[in-house]
Amino acid sequence: MSQKEATNSAWGGRFQESTDAFVAEFTASVNFDRRMATEDIAGSLAHAQMLVEAGILSAADGEAIRTGLAQVQAEIDAGEFVWSVALEDVHMNIEKRLTDLIGDAGKRLHTGRSRNDQVATDIRLYTRAAIDRITAEIERLQQGIVTVAEREADTIMPGFTHLQTAQPITFGHHLLAWYEMLCRDKGRFQDCRRRLNVSPLGAAALAGTTYPIVRERSAQLLGFDGVCQNSLDAVSDRDFAIEFCAASATLLMHLSRFAEELILWNSAAFRFVDLPDRFCTGSSIMPQKKNPDAPELVRGKTGRVYGHLTALLTLMKSQPLAYNKDNQEDKEPLFDTVDTVLGCLRAFADMLPHLQAQRDNMLAAAKQGFSTATDLADYLVRKGLAFRDAHEVVGKAVALAIDKGCDLPELPLADLQGLSPLIGEDVYAVLTVQGSVNARNHIGGTAPAQVKARIAAIKALS
Ligand code: ARG
Repeated sequence: MSQKEATNSAWGGRFQESTDAFVAEFTASVNFDRRMATEDIAGSLAHAQMLVEAGILSAADGEAIRTGLAQVQAEIDAGEFVWSVALEDVHMNIEKRLTDLIGDAGKRLHTGRSRNDQVATDIRLYTRAAIDRITAEIERLQQGIVTVAEREADTIMPGFTHLQTAQPITFGHHLLAWYEMLCRDKGRFQDCRRRLNVSPLGAAALAGTTYPIVRERSAQLLGFDGVCQNSLDAVSDRDFAIEFCAASATLLMHLSRFAEELILWNSAAFRFVDLPDRFCTGSSIMPQKKNPDAPELVRGKTGRVYGHLTALLTLMKSQPLAYNKDNQEDKEPLFDTVDTVLGCLRAFADMLPHLQAQRDNMLAAAKQGFSTATDLADYLVRKGLAFRDAHEVVGKAVALAIDKGCDLPELPLADLQGLSPLIGEDVYAVLTVQGSVNARNHIGGTAPAQVKARIAAIKALS
């Protein structure tokens, strides 16, 4: 091979020697960006069609490009495409194969385009498709949550603050808190999608192109809502990848919190829930163990997505306009974020509907820890005591119960009346956990009636 032949044909013209073997490998991205092959082909098809319609390419060239790219896509789908590191990236691999298949028409595809606007288009399309898949998985998880919440609308469990027993709540209410968090996650991804859905195509290398291109046309063919308004910004902007990773980091923070609760609740000390065996694994040394691996891994994987968000922010912070090769480093964090988010959502969406509540254990725990103390204070307020004074009385009642080694509802009426003459026989209805949850009957409250109302509203919307 002559020295000239060894250089990359896409830019070899001005080079006197071939690329150093290590540098070729170091700068190549094909091993990871080939994942965007379908988006790359879609972008090329739209670009070619626009060029034909604008009279920049002949109809015959357009037709050859269309058939050639269909064949390239078929080869990729069949796993027969031969990827070459020497051809650097997904864009040049596909263009080279196209040219091998159809000749000169393939060489004309890159008219009025640069890899800079091409890659920006590809990642936007890729991220948009990822958002659509993630949205569907969030919705599947939400459906599972609603299914269990409906089943457990009346189930009483302890609600915690500081992980100390605070007040009784319903399990359905707790589950619907997760549902609400996921609504916001979905909103963040949709918001990101709206901003990313504009076409960089036509920005070319950085300044635009001298051909009479119709940017709106290729944008429309690709399902974009419009075009990027500044060519420099179009090729250098990666905000959407950062926003996507930020939405993913927040989603995984939420999933990690669910995971933490499931892990705690599934432990021998709590025994609030039972995770199906198929989502757990055993221990090679302790035969009794059933480990909640799936939630643990979701909690663990959250860290790498935070890392990817930090990587992208750092990647962009010092780049001058417009495109810089640094941008090639956007892909691996983005792709791994997509994989991680989809994997974690799948693990949760598959598992959630099969979550078994250990209702008796939850109820027993809800009755411990003086969880109806606030209800007693509210009772005293209804009888005319100021809240701060009521708080004081109940504090003394709790101290008395600790002394006697019993719970609040087990204190004899005489003891309670010794603390406040306002207390009557009717206090015992207030001190039950059922009375406690039923009393919180307003929008957003924990009463079973409210849980059922929220579920009905969710179902009416979907
Ligand atoms: N592989 C490159 C990337 O991912 C494609 C764009 C390269 N452009 C260039 N002028 N070298 O960013």
